[in-house]
Amino acid sequence: MTTTAIDRVSILGSDSIVVGYDLVPALVAEILRDLPSSKYVLVTDTNISKMHLESFKSTFAKLTRESEDPPRFLSYVVPPGEGSKSREMKAAIEDWMFVNQCTRDTVLLALGGGVIGDMSGYVAATFMRGIRYVQIPTTLLAMVDSSIGGKTAIDVPYGKNLVGAFWQPTRIFVDLAMLETLPEREFINGMAEIIKTAIFWDEEEFIRLERDVEKFTAAFRNRDPATGIVDLSSILPILRALVVGSIKVKAFVVTADEREGGLRNLLNFGHSIGHAYEAILTPEILHGECVAIGIVKEVELARYLGLLSDSTVARITRVLSAYGLPISAQDPVVQKRTSGRLTPADQLVKVMTVDKKNAGSKKRIVLLTGIGKTLEKKASVVADDDIKFVLAPDVIVNMPALPADASVPVTPPGSKSITNRALLLAALSDGPTKLVNLLRSDDTEHMMTAIAQLSGATFGWTTTETGEDVLEVNGRGGKLVASELDVYLGNSGTSSRFLAAIVTLAEPSATAASVVLTGNKRMKERPISPLVDALSGNGAQIAYLEAPGSLPLKITAGKNLRGGRIELAATVSSQYVSALLMAAPYAKSPVTLALVGGKPVSQAYIDMTIAMMASFGVTVIKSATEEHTYEIPTGVYTPPTTYIVESDASSATYPLAFAAITGTTCTIPNIGSSSLQGDAKFAVDVLRPMGCTVVQDATSTTVTGPAQGTLKALGTIDMEPMTDAFLTASVLMAFASGTTRITGIANQRVKECDRISAMATELSKFGVIALEHPDGLEVRGATASELCVPHEGVKTYDDHRVAMSFSVFASAVPQPVLVRDRHCVEKTWPGWWDVLRRKFEVSLEGYEDISRQSGKAFDTANPGSIFIIGMRGAGKTYVGHLIAKVLGHKFQDLDDYLEAKTGKKIPQIIADEDWTGFRARELGVLNEVMEKYPRGHVFACGGGIVETPEARNRLKEFMGHGGTVVYVHRDLEKVLEHLNVDETRPVYGADHFTAWRRRQPWFADCSNYFLYNIDARTPEEIVNSITYTI
Ligand SMILES: NC(=O)c1ccc[n+]([C@@H]2O[C@H](COP(=O)([O-])OP(=O)(O)OC[C@H]3O[C@@H](n4cnc5c(N)ncnc54)[C@H](O)[C@@H]3O)[C@@H](O)[C@H]2O)c1
Ligand SMILES: [Zn+2]
Repeated sequence: MTTTAIDRVSILGSDSIVVGYDLVPALVAEILRDLPSSKYVLVTDTNISKMHLESFKSTFAKLTRESEDPPRFLSYVVPPGEGSKSREMKAAIEDWMFVNQCTRDTVLLALGGGVIGDMSGYVAATFMRGIRYVQIPTTLLAMVDSSIGGKTAIDVPYGKNLVGAFWQPTRIFVDLAMLETLPEREFINGMAEIIKTAIFWDEEEFIRLERDVEKFTAAFRNRDPATGIVDLSSILPILRALVVGSIKVKAFVVTADEREGGLRNLLNFGHSIGHAYEAILTPEILHGECVAIGIVKEVELARYLGLLSDSTVARITRVLSAYGLPISAQDPVVQKRTSGRLTPADQLVKVMTVDKKNAGSKKRIVLLTGIGKTLEKKASVVADDDIKFVLAPDVIVNMPALPADASVPVTPPGSKSITNRALLLAALSDGPTKLVNLLRSDDTEHMMTAIAQLSGATFGWTTTETGEDVLEVNGRGGKLVASELDVYLGNSGTSSRFLAAIVTLAEPSATAASVVLTGNKRMKERPISPLVDALSGNGAQIAYLEAPGSLPLKITAGKNLRGGRIELAATVSSQYVSALLMAAPYAKSPVTLALVGGKPVSQAYIDMTIAMMASFGVTVIKSATEEHTYEIPTGVYTPPTTYIVESDASSATYPLAFAAITGTTCTIPNIGSSSLQGDAKFAVDVLRPMGCTVVQDATSTTVTGPAQGTLKALGTIDMEPMTDAFLTASVLMAFASGTTRITGIANQRVKECDRISAMATELSKFGVIALEHPDGLEVRGATASELCVPHEGVKTYDDHRVAMSFSVFASAVPQPVLVRDRHCVEKTWPGWWDVLRRKFEVSLEGYEDISRQSGKAFDTANPGSIFIIGMRGAGKTYVGHLIAKVLGHKFQDLDDYLEAKTGKKIPQIIADEDWTGFRARELGVLNEVMEKYPRGHVFACGGGIVETPEARNRLKEFMGHGGTVVYVHRDLEKVLEHLNVDETRPVYGADHFTAWRRRQPWFADCSNYFLYNIDARTPEEIVNSITYTI
């Protein structure tokens, strides 16, 4: 594609959108030709004018030099930022246009992001009842979103975008060259809208986004240090395709909406929940960033409702995060930027109540059923409880409603080790394979991207009618081609090790004679030398580019493995062995792989690799004469038509245990006696002796539990062969008749947490006798009626296995059981709760205890005085009274205090002493009460207290000595409603909204507690909603 090509997109029946690169000369010419006028007025902001205004000026001058009566070109430059979307700014521009004798034939050019576009568009809409205007968007967000559709607006004190008009621009010129100066964060912000559109509308676009992520992020990070400008040439064609694609969707929807009510709601995908986050996290977190968080929650909601698969949710989340967007409000960057502001589920749900799309009190959300597919061609009605479940961190588990004769098939996510091997073997095969039940993780993504980059195979996702995601791999029989771009593998150890061996197969290309494998900082510290030594000894040419012994590696292409005898020290990692085994058939002659230095670690993984190679047509023979030695013939992998990735056997223990504990039946259709995973023995070796009926064939397992309450204890059981399953076993033991001692699991003390201690502690909370041993756990069984249920719930230690075990346990407890921090299951089974709810009919409720979540509760017993800050009208007095009531403190408004002290009303003080005098007095009062009343008081400060650095420092110092400052925030609309009726106070000079934007960071900085003020709450509810923020 040439850079001069131009795309035209039609909207509302006119080809008015023009997309291209370096468009200024062409667009100026087109404007002069198609929108003739005596005057052109360009509006932009100071950031953009520095970089782009000059070229407009000079092009206009150049192109009109010859004309007899050249039109005038004027420009108006405003400060950057949302503050410029104001009435004042609009008036100033209009007045300036009058002074410059603009008339009805004047053409306005809006050069900028959404702020400039919205505000100048509104000027154009009303100036002399409407003049022609042209949008020249300069941010990615403006290119794909705000410049299209004709919505123009300004912000007013009552809220954002509340005054405006529909006014279609005559032309929209999207010049991709403008993006070369855009800051990285703004670029990422705009990507959120592009990704959003691809998700609900266009799977192919989404696949391109998945494929090109590295290229994009690399291009946008790679700035000229002197100018800050990025070189877009490497990504221009794909960037252009994405922008055009996204514009087309928006243009189509906007055009169609006139006839089809509701379709336009689709554009709000991710926004229903995203806006709720935005209400709390703005202005520190940008719109697109909040939309990213909203998308994740909205797709989790669809999964919870049984509409979307685990792997699709994983795909979406991964893409957002790969482009640098936050995927949760707990994201460290979001937390840092907002000083740890909390986003409690109840508050989010309440903010959502005022969404314009709602049907009465029912909330509407766009529900995704697959990439590019939605449940309805509009937003669907969703119950509050379901939304709350998705937003809340904790869950209450109730008894299941499942009948005893229920028989439930469950397919847990694919095994990670099998997935990685299957992917590589399929790629190395000669021909196509369908991989089913693949686990999507960072490892798989890195592996796929790398193989595709080296032209080793092509990949395509499809979804079956039953909603299963299938990966079609077109293998090229081990033919790889060197690529000039580095192959980036993140922190994926498996991909790095496997690929180091496989890349020795690569042939040089016209542009690259070697391949560089690299990773993130952590990966660059992880060892790889035993493998590199073995490969180098066999003909490969490999150099360490940084620290010896670790990535990055430079592997020379065309230096294939010779074959013959390879010796490898395999006492550190079995991944080296697997890597060599899988690469060996493509060596020039058969390989004899001898593992030296003692017993190899993790023999099970070596066996797994060998068994899987056999499934792909290559038989490895164990040497009959030499210990730990394997013979690998040369040959080409032959692909099976379909390869089903076995589910993770550790994950499978939870549904099987559920059947055992509830007396129902569960089938795992893809794990059986032939499984190579250690935990696959759980059904036969643990559940059967406990009294379950286990039916197992080579590839499936069915467990039926005995009547509830009749599980048998096992005496002593050595769980060394399946250590990860001990947590599942121990919750079953708690319901068994008698005592069981589990041994051989000492390694479980150093997993995500000390699991032995965690299980003992949490079981004990229910009154179960559970004793720790150095290498195990002893559990005495109890009956359901003997159990007591802890109010504080089950702590999960950020350990997925603790959470999943206790969810099974809770299903057999008659009372509701609270399980904390349920999201930790996402490490291995993100959809576990959804399976529990839908398949096992366990009723779940979202729960959140904010005081606990913050780590530091608002202490109602603290006798110290409390200061309340926040905008006027936020409800400081109202809230202050209630807090004082609950704490038994005395309430005092500092403005009242000042008035009483001076005998003057505040407006009078300001009239007499000016604002400076008033602020000094305000500070004096603050100092005075802090000294005089360190205890027993609640003080509400004036809204402007944070305006002076002295007062801000005083508040920080107060907090530094353990004092409490609560920042009360309220919907700005509500604030202004209140201010409107409150005529007793002076009106600020600047508009309230601008004041709030300025003060917001100071409020956050000068407080250690936060309260999002929602009307109509009891004093206790108010106090319980106060959250710790630092
Ligand atoms: N009208 C609509 O349909 C619609 C849709 C979505 C958003 N919006 C509005 O859009 C606004 C947000 O727009 P935005 O995200 O584009 O933010 P923005 O206009 O504030 O621009 C973001 C920042 O990037 C700078 N910038 C812009 N282009 C640049 C460039 N090429 N090089 C260097 N710096 C550049 C700006 O000066 C600014 O500091 C909001 O007011 C929102 O309400 C409107
Ligand atoms: Zn948006």
